[in-house]
Amino acid sequence: MDSYKLLITGGIPLVGETYVSGGKNTSVAVIAATLLSDEPCVLENLPDIEDVHVLIDILAGLGAKVEYQPEERRLAVDPRGVNSCKVPYHQTQRMRASYYMLGALLGRFGQAEVGYPGGCSIGARPVDQHLKAFRAMGAEIRERGAKISAKGKMTGCSVVFDRITVGGTINAMLAAAKAEGNSVLYNAAREPHVVDLANFLNSMGCRVKGAGTDTIRITGQKKLHGSVYTVIPDQIETGTLMIAAAATRGDVVIRGCIPTHMESLTAKLLEMGVAVSDMDDAIRVRTVRGHRAVNIKTQEYPGFPTDLQQPMSAMLTRAGGDSVVIETIFESRFKHLMEMRRMGAQVQILDQTAIIQGVPELYGAPVTATDLRAGAALVIAGLMANGVTEIYEPSFIERGYEHIEEKLRALGANIRREPLEEM
Ligand code: EPZ
Repeated sequence: MDSYKLLITGGIPLVGETYVSGGKNTSVAVIAATLLSDEPCVLENLPDIEDVHVLIDILAGLGAKVEYQPEERRLAVDPRGVNSCKVPYHQTQRMRASYYMLGALLGRFGQAEVGYPGGCSIGARPVDQHLKAFRAMGAEIRERGAKISAKGKMTGCSVVFDRITVGGTINAMLAAAKAEGNSVLYNAAREPHVVDLANFLNSMGCRVKGAGTDTIRITGQKKLHGSVYTVIPDQIETGTLMIAAAATRGDVVIRGCIPTHMESLTAKLLEMGVAVSDMDDAIRVRTVRGHRAVNIKTQEYPGFPTDLQQPMSAMLTRAGGDSVVIETIFESRFKHLMEMRRMGAQVQILDQTAIIQGVPELYGAPVTATDLRAGAALVIAGLMANGVTEIYEPSFIERGYEHIEEKLRALGANIRREPLEEM
C-alpha cells in the first residue's frame, strides 16, 4: 500500500511545451544487453524510473561495475566483473523485464538461474515462447521453485514464434548475439524497442539484420566490444502525453519524440477530430472541435499499441457517441474502466471488448491504480473530470513515467501528492 495518493483537480486544458524521456521498454532491454559486452558500455538518455533502477540493482548484484547518474540519464556498465548467473526471486519479482537476464546470461555464460518475473497484472503472461527459443538454441530448461534454470552453449538456429511476442523476440536476440553460428527469428515482434536493441547490439559489433520486420537474422559473435549508446524516446509516454493533451481539450507541443512511431495513435486522434501536426522531432496536439467516438482494436506494432489502449479508452468515455475497444494482446486490461464508473463513465465490458458510451462530463472520485498504464489512464480521467480525483496506489505510474507529475504541472495541471491519513 503506497503511503500517499495523488490529488487531481480536473477541467483544466493542458497548454504549453513538454518533452519525452528515454524509452522504458527499450532501456530494460539495452541495459540487459550490456552483460553481453566484453568491454565497458555507456548508455545515455535512460529514464529515471523504478524499472531502470531495479535492473541496475540486478546487474550490480551479478558483480558488474555500474556507475549510474540519474540526473544525466547516464549509466556506465563494466560487465567484466560479473561472477554469478543467479538472479534471486525477490529481485525478479519487482518487474517484468527481469526475464531478459535469462537471455543475456545464457548468451554470455551458457547458464542462468532467474526467478519468475513480476510485472503488471494485465493477464497470464506466460514465457513459453522465450523458453522455446532458448531450447532451440541448445539450452536445457528446468522450472522449479519459482525460478527458471537454463544451461547450454548457445548455437545459432531458426525459431518460429507461435505468436508475436516482444519479450520473446528480445530474449532470443540476447541469447543469439554470441551464439555459435547464425540464427533466424520468424514471426518476430517489430516494435521500435526491438529495433533499438538491434542497433545497440550492432554498435557492439554484432550482426543483426531485419529488426523492425517479422524476420530477424543474427550472426553470433565471439566478442562484443564496448559502446556508447543513446536509447530512443519513449513511444508510450509520447502517446500518453498526446492523449492527455487531447482529452483535456488543450494545446501541447511534445518535443524529443519520433512522430513515425506514433502513426497509429495519430490516425485515431485525427479520426476523432483532434488536430495533430508532426514536426521533425515534435508533435503538436490541439483540440479544435468536439471529439467523435472511434473504435480501437489493439495490435502488435505498427498497429494500435496495447499500452495506449488504457489511456485512450479513458479519453473515449467523454467522446460524442459509442466507442468499441477490443484488446487483443492481454486478457485483462480494462480494470481502469471499471474504476472510472465511479467517475460517471458508462462502460460495458465483455471479455476483451469494452463498449464505451460517451458522456458529457466526468466527475472526480476516489479510484485505485491496478497497473502502470491503468494508473496513467486514471490520471487522464482525473485531468478531464470536474472536481477532485484521488488516485490510490500511484507508485505504479512512476514505474514507467519519468517525473510525470512535474511534466503535467508545467502544462497547467493541478496535480499533487498527499500523504495517506494514518489508518
Ligand atoms: C512487452 O511485454 C512490454 N513490456 C509491455 O509493456 C507491452 O504491453 C507488451 O510488450 C506488448 O507490446 C516490456 O517491454 C517490459 P509480449 P511482454 O511478450 O514482452 C503472450 C508496459 O505497460 N505471450 O509481447 O511481456 C502474452 O501473454 C508493459 O510498458 C505468450 O503467450 O509482451 C501476451 O498475451 C505492459 N507466451 C502476448 O503474448 C510468451 O512466451 C504479448 O506479450 C510470451 C508472451
